[in-house]
Amino acid sequence: MPAKFITSAIRAADLPESGKPHICMLGRSNVGKSSLINHLAGQKGLARTSSQPGLTQTINLFEFDGRYMLVDLPGYGYSRKARSKGEGFERMLSGYLSEAELLKLVVLIIDARHGLTELDRDALAQLKEAQLPHVIVANKSDKLSNSQAAQITRELRTEFPDAKVILHSINDSRGLGEIREAIEKAVRAHKEERKG
Ligand code: GTP
Ligand code: MG
Repeated sequence: MPAKFITSAIRAADLPESGKPHICMLGRSNVGKSSLINHLAGQKGLARTSSQPGLTQTINLFEFDGRYMLVDLPGYGYSRKARSKGEGFERMLSGYLSEAELLKLVVLIIDARHGLTELDRDALAQLKEAQLPHVIVANKSDKLSNSQAAQITRELRTEFPDAKVILHSINDSRGLGEIREAIEKAVRAHKEERKG
C-alpha cells in the first residue's frame, strides 16, 4: 500500500487539514504502534521504531493510498521526554483525541503477553466516553504459544464484547487483514457521513 510521511506536530491543532479520515494508533510506549504502521504500509522504515520505549514524541501523520491518514502517537506510560518538552503529554494525547474531528478509528494496541494495564483501561474508558470507534490489537503474539494466544484472545473478547479484538504480530501476517478491514470500514463510514 503506497504510504508517505506527511508531517509531525506537537499539538493536534497544528496538524494540516486534509479532509481525509484519521485512524490513530494508541497504546503504551514500546507496544508496537509505529511498527504496526510500517506493517500496514509494507515499508519497514516509514515510521521510526526502537527497542527502547519513548521513541515517538510527536503526533506523526502518514498518508495511505491517498485516501486516509494513519496517525502515530507517542506512547503512554513513558512520558519523561515529552513532558520536559513543555507540552504536557497527557494534554497532547487527550487534546488529539478530543479535537481531531476527522478521527474515525482508534487502534488501541496492547501487549498480548501482558493484557490490559491500568493505563490501557483508562484509555479505553476515555474512548468509550468520547464514543470513538475503536478496535483492540493484541500485539507481539509471536511471543506466545498458539494456545496462550487463543486464551488471551478469548479472555479479551469476553471482557470487551463491544470491541473488535485482533491478534497481531509484525513477524507474520496474523491479524493484518483484519486490521486493514477495520480501517477500510472506518474510511467507508466517513465517506457515507460526508455524502449524507
Ligand atoms: P513508542 O514510540 O516508544 O511509544 O513505541 P511504539 O509503540 O511505537 O513501539 P515500536 O513500534 O517502536 O516497537 C517497539 C519494539 O517492539 C521494537 O523493538 C519492535 O521491533 C518491537 N515489536 C513491535 N511489534 C512487534 C511484534 O509484533 N512482535 C515482536 N516480537 N516485536 C515487536
Ligand atoms: Mg512509536
